[in-house]
Amino acid sequence: MALENSSSESVFIDSVVLSSNLESLYTGILTGVSVWKLLFGVLVCVTIYDQISYVTKKGSIAGPRFKLYPIIGPFLESVNPKFEAYKAKWASGPLSCVSVFHKFVVIASTRDLARKIFNSPTYVKPCVVDAAIKILRPTNWVFMDGKAHVDYRKGLNGLFTRKALSVYLPGQEELYDKYFKIFLEMSEKGHVPFMHVFREINCAVSCRTFCGHYISEEQVKVIADKYYLITEALELVNFPIILPFTKAWYGKKAADMTLDIFQQCAAKSRKAMEAGGDVTCTMDAWIKEMLEARDNVKKDDGTSGVSIRVFNDKEISETIFTFLFASQDASSSATTWLFQILADRPDVFAKVREEQLRVRDYDVNKRLSIDMVDKMTYTHMVVKEALRYRPPVIMVPYLVKKDYPISPDYTVPKGSMVIPTVYPALHDPEVYPEPETFNPDRWIGDDSLANKAPKNWLVFGTGPHVCLGQTYAVMNFICMIGKAALLMDWTHEVTPESEEIKVFATIFPQDNCKLKFTNREIAT
Ligand code: HEM
Repeated sequence: MALENSSSESVFIDSVVLSSNLESLYTGILTGVSVWKLLFGVLVCVTIYDQISYVTKKGSIAGPRFKLYPIIGPFLESVNPKFEAYKAKWASGPLSCVSVFHKFVVIASTRDLARKIFNSPTYVKPCVVDAAIKILRPTNWVFMDGKAHVDYRKGLNGLFTRKALSVYLPGQEELYDKYFKIFLEMSEKGHVPFMHVFREINCAVSCRTFCGHYISEEQVKVIADKYYLITEALELVNFPIILPFTKAWYGKKAADMTLDIFQQCAAKSRKAMEAGGDVTCTMDAWIKEMLEARDNVKKDDGTSGVSIRVFNDKEISETIFTFLFASQDASSSATTWLFQILADRPDVFAKVREEQLRVRDYDVNKRLSIDMVDKMTYTHMVVKEALRYRPPVIMVPYLVKKDYPISPDYTVPKGSMVIPTVYPALHDPEVYPEPETFNPDRWIGDDSLANKAPKNWLVFGTGPHVCLGQTYAVMNFICMIGKAALLMDWTHEVTPESEEIKVFATIFPQDNCKLKFTNREIAT
């Protein structure tokens, strides 16, 4: 009985264990299924929501009827953007759209719509690209708008006056001399791609202009090398968060390192200015201005005198970093095209060289001065035409702060990105006949079609955020290309890709510009 009992008990226990195992197996399967079902359901809902949201936001403007790739949209295309695809987009309508992940992007391709966006601070504020906000930090002054932005910018105007620019010139010329030697050394191997060296010379010129001799050559080299990572992070739309080991992550690390170096330079500049040193760079000019303002206020018992906001070393470093950020890719693009264009057009090259010699009174060793630059009218026209023909910054992303009625038929929804495009305005055949031809003579005389259409000149944007460094930038190109034409000859190895445009934040020749420089026998 006991046996019977024990055996029936064990059968009972076995069957309980079995049924409980079956139950947990069954529950497991059921739970698994429902989790998958749930996930699938959520995905379907999100996809439907995303498509409906896209179609509603798109309204009547040009763009795909649906998001071809659910949720991500043309994310993969935006990782490797093609210039021809942009052109097709601009041609598709005055306003067109695209949606990548959560971001709805409206692109404006006509001159007037582009100008309207640049001049609508009530509705839009600059956002550069997604990653820029993370790299520059959201509190950065370039993302400010309204009065805060105007006030901040006022404090920076003194850094790009004629007086300030003339202080920066000797440092720039030192670097042209140094890099021209490097150009010659590199050319011993024949025609080699120069795009990356043009990036380096611009980075070095910027660092010297902004930080003077407070920055060491090694630090400039590190920044020039690492800056590539920052440019790589600047895709139009990034993954919403910075994931380790992604382009945005490497870009942020490079930016943090640069900010640290600039902060150390600001501390050294402050020390030098407090000790009564001469102004040699942008940081000096800025700190000196602040110290003078502080002393003025002190002298007048705080009742009068010029009072300006006092910035600490960290703030200075962040602002100087925005100058590097704003200048680096655009200046490298312009430099690359300028050297290529001149090599391909010996007639233009000869005229630039003749002018460079003339403004130096036929003394090739004469150092640059701002008065000399004023006389370089032909070289200036060449630079202006290069900027029109191959505008470095083809699009300027803005963020829509509140629903923006951009045209009678269309309102850009709040939270979207809206992008004025400058390329079509700069290639408008009515203002620039044969726009695909490089013709510096179109800038001769105040009455020329090109000069009479300042509204089309959108190379540096317009409105409250118009490029702060434009005079400095143009002067840098005039001086660099002018001096190079004076001292060196160079030839271009034309490849089928030389006139193909590669988009890498700004625009470059697809083959990275293969050049060969030779020293010139100078007859004065
Ligand atoms: C070829 C060279 C350059 C080009 C094509 C260029 C173009 C531009 C464009 C299109 C904008 C946006 C304007 C707008 O939103 O209306 C801009 C803004 C800016 N640029 Fe430049 N830039 C160049 C060089 C420089 C340089 C060398 C510096 C500094 C030394 C600089 C400093 C700035 C700053 C600080 C802003 C933001 C201004 C603000 O938000 O108030 N840029 N630039």
